[in-house]
This record gives sequence, C-alpha cells and structure tokens, in this order.
Amino acid sequence: MSDTAPDIPRHVAIIMDGNGRWAADRGMPRRDGHRAGAESVREVVEGCKELGIDYLTLYAFSSENWNRPKKEIDALMNLLKRFLKEKTKEMHKQNVRLHAIGRLHLLPDDCRAALDNAIASTANNTGLSLILALSYGSREEIIDAASSIAKAAVAGTLDPDALDSETFAAHLATAPFPDPDLLIRTSGELRLSNFLLWQISYAEIVITPKFWPEFKKADLRAAIEEYSRRHRRFGAV
Ligand code: FPP
Repeated sequence: MSDTAPDIPRHVAIIMDGNGRWAADRGMPRRDGHRAGAESVREVVEGCKELGIDYLTLYAFSSENWNRPKKEIDALMNLLKRFLKEKTKEMHKQNVRLHAIGRLHLLPDDCRAALDNAIASTANNTGLSLILALSYGSREEIIDAASSIAKAAVAGTLDPDALDSETFAAHLATAPFPDPDLLIRTSGELRLSNFLLWQISYAEIVITPKFWPEFKKADLRAAIEEYSRRHRRFGAV
C-alpha cells in the first residue's frame, strides 16, 4: 500500500461511549443520557455530510449490551425505533443511505420493522452511507464469516488453500464497505470493545475525553484534523 497523507477519511467509525456517565453527572437517569446521545448522532451525521465523508459506522448497541438491565435495553430500543421513524425523512433529505450490521434478528420486532423500513426507503440514496452496528460483536461477525467459509469449502465452492484476506473480508457483514480510516472513541476509554476488530487493522485511532452527548460537529472536525496530521504508513517505512 502506498504512503499517503490523506485529508478527509473516507470511512469514520465511532464508539459512542459515556451516555450513562454524562447523565449521572447531572443527576439524570441513564435513559436521558442516551436521549442526549441520539442528538449527537443527528449532529455527527450532518457533520459527516458537510465534510464529504462517504461512510459513517456507529456502535449503537453491542452484543454485550444485552446484559444491561431490561429497563435500559427497552429504553435504548424505544429510542432507536423513534429515531428511525422520525429521522427517515431527514435522512432522505440529506441523501443518506442507511445500513445495519449485527445480529439484527435479535432486535425486538417493532424495532426491526422500523429498521427494515428505513433501510428500504433510503436504499436509492447516493450520499453518506450510515451504518448502524446493532446487536453487533466483532468476534461473532468473524465466527459467522469463518462458518460460512467452512461451509463453502465443504460444498467445494471455495478452495481453503486459496483463502486470502480479500476473500475473508467478503464474508464479513461489512463486505460492501471500505475499511474505516479513522476510529473515534468518546469518554476517554482506551478499549476496542469488540468493535470492527478485523476492519480497523490500519485505522488511525482518536480518543476524546468528552462523553458522547457532548460530542458535536466541532469535535468531529477536531478528530479529522488530528487524523489528517498523522502520517499513514501501513506498516512500511
Ligand atoms: C454508551 O454509553 C452508549 C450506548 C451503549 C448506546 C449508544 C446509543 C446512543 C448514542 C443513542 C441512540 C442511538 C441511535 C443510533 C439513535 P454508556 O451507556 O455505555 O455510557 P457509560 O459508559 O457512561 O455508562
């Protein structure tokens, strides 16, 4: 791969962290933190569009998040459903195309229906691709890919000796998208939390101490400025 000094990443992925702590700091229930987080989602989608970013992947609900109290899961699913219902028109106006990755069959039926509807109704849009990672875990995604590769090998449609990273990546849920160039994590935690482990192999990582509800367009711009200052070498000298 060539030595590049890119200005604008083509694909930005974000671990949106800190909704709960943002709410706790204000003596508010966690669901209010998630609600404020949904506002940051709206703002960052708009920011990406303005900056000319092609793909934005948001970690909206991890496979591990199913272990949270039922009340919080319900609040998150309701918020997601409402977001999808209310924002589909706006996504259309902004030429945003919605996608989703993860074990989507585990989502509640009404949430899944709202998601399928938003995906279908934005399918012909040609601007920013917004990819929601829902009930998503990278290890699960990699296991699913390995399983489908093994099945293809058994069926004789794939030669195991010819397996390479391109073929492997084609079996991941992210196959239609380029790998993220920039990974942003809010709330200062230095973890990947089972997010896009294969895909971020060469991504630049920017961590901000701000909680997700505080992350606005100016913070997105600052992260992208930091990205553009970095010298990307892809392991070469
Ligand atoms: C992390 O904060 C955030 C989440 C688990 C969910 C992210 C969801 C949203 C931003 C709102 C809805 C999303 C969409 C796409 C409409 P946390 O709860 O882990 O915070 P904490 O670490 O401070 O407890």
